Amino acid sequence: MAAKLCTTTFKLTHGGKDIPAVGMGCWRGNFGDGLDGEFPRALKYCIENGYRHIDTASFYQNEVTIGQVLKTVNVDREDLFITTKMWNTQHNDPAKALQESLENLKLDYVDLYLMHWPQGESADGTMYGEKGGAGPTFSEVWAELEKLLAQGKAKAIGVSNFSIGNLEELFKTAKVAPAVNQVETHPFNPDFELADYCASKGIHLTAYSPMGHGTDNPLRDEPVLVSIAEEIGSTPTQVALAWNVAHGRSIVPRSSNPSRIVANITLPTLQPKHMAAIDGITLNDPKRRTRLCWPMCDQEKGTVFGWSLDKLLWDVGFNTLKEDVVSLRRLPA
Ligand SMILES: NC(=O)c1ccc[n+]([C@@H]2O[C@H](COP(=O)([O-])OP(=O)(O)OC[C@H]3O[C@@H](n4cnc5c(N)ncnc54)[C@H](OP(=O)(O)O)[C@@H]3O)[C@@H](O)[C@H]2O)c1
Repeated sequence: MAAKLCTTTFKLTHGGKDIPAVGMGCWRGNFGDGLDGEFPRALKYCIENGYRHIDTASFYQNEVTIGQVLKTVNVDREDLFITTKMWNTQHNDPAKALQESLENLKLDYVDLYLMHWPQGESADGTMYGEKGGAGPTFSEVWAELEKLLAQGKAKAIGVSNFSIGNLEELFKTAKVAPAVNQVETHPFNPDFELADYCASKGIHLTAYSPMGHGTDNPLRDEPVLVSIAEEIGSTPTQVALAWNVAHGRSIVPRSSNPSRIVANITLPTLQPKHMAAIDGITLNDPKRRTRLCWPMCDQEKGTVFGWSLDKLLWDVGFNTLKEDVVSLRRLPA
């Protein structure tokens, strides 16, 4: 059961080409130092070692660097799958937002354009829909994304961080269903309900933070993952990544380390007993469900990029991390 280069792709029901199962995440890298910097070197290394999906966003502020790296690699544009996202402060003009991203990336089109979050905010941080904040609803933003899809500037459009409630609201007016919903999902937040809902609507799930977040994260010591990793000669991280892919979700792990870049796309095949054991981590003990991507939280305000967990309609918060790191809690009933 040797691990092997994962070249799996998933069909997008609502347009665009097939999405590679493994992509490189591009948030929170070290972007400095031009093309000699850590991030561009890592990105180039990824592409040279089989990655064909690049996941960025205007918020990550590295689209220009990515565009420069793409000019230096020996892979045809049509063989790459480039995802970028519009930030919350760009909800008032999606066409301008996408145009800026295309100019940054030096591309004529992106393969997937995502609304990064359902919440919009003005440049001064006032949230749309709240006192003093006037701006489009996410459904109105979606109608603009549908126009960009028709123009061919994005081959597929989708959303990110949308809950079932958000999607139900979107479907009241959407003419085109989102091709993708990119959300935080890993063995501590399997989100089976959201996954089932998305599957019923033909929406593909991409998993962000698919191995948990950061270097000090509890997923890597999880006994079930550790024991499967020992049994099959893999690592707990690879087991976590393979679990998402086996559930039909694409993943966007980030690494700037050559051996981990290769490890993250060299995935073992898990047996049904392994999948059942990993699913069981939270099915058997729902209190263990938690999100791990804590840098998105404002602990003082109790919000994630301006919205509370209730407003996001998230049923799971950031429950198990150290007290000094995260305190946004919403335990399952
Ligand atoms: N849509 C959204 O709202 C959203 C939110 C968050 C993230 N994302 C996307 O998801 C991507 C991944 O996010 P993330 O939270 O997983 O990234 P992350 O925690 O910022 O980065 C991964 C961390 O794990 C380490 N690592 C990588 N591979 C490893 C391995 N095999 N074993 C042990 N450690 C390893 C990396 O260190 P080394 O570099 O030293 O390997 C890095 O510190 C982002 O870059 C972004 O594209 C999207």
